[in-house]
Amino acid sequence: MTPNSIQTTTPEVVLQLDNVSIWYTPEKSAVTNVSAEIYDHEITAIMGPSGCGKSTLLRAINRMHEL
Ligand SMILES: Nc1ncnc2c1ncn2[C@@H]1O[C@H](COP(=O)(O)OP(=O)(O)OP(=O)(O)O)[C@@H](O)[C@H]1O
Ligand SMILES: [Mg+2]
Repeated sequence: MTPNSIQTTTPEVVLQLDNVSIWYTPEKSAVTNVSAEIYDHEITAIMGPSGCGKSTLLRAINRMHEL
């Protein structure tokens, strides 16, 4: 795609999150029921207050918790 051109193809979902929850301890979830669709050729921002789980979600998406 050239700069300033209009995208005419249908955006493709490259990552789908369906009710994702993540726990470090059984008492309290760090991420609770997050659903989102991430599209190709788009910039997606994850925003929220400190401690809401942004880094935890990104680590899960990148499978860093499994290392
Ligand atoms: N390794 C860990 N072990 C236990 N709890 C954790 C761990 N990492 C984060 N948490 C907890 O999980 C919750 C989400 O933290 P996280 O670091 O994902 O938030 P964040 O949105 O990235 O915050 P910030 O904006 O300050 O970077 C917080 O309650 C935090 O204390
Ligand atoms: Mg963070």
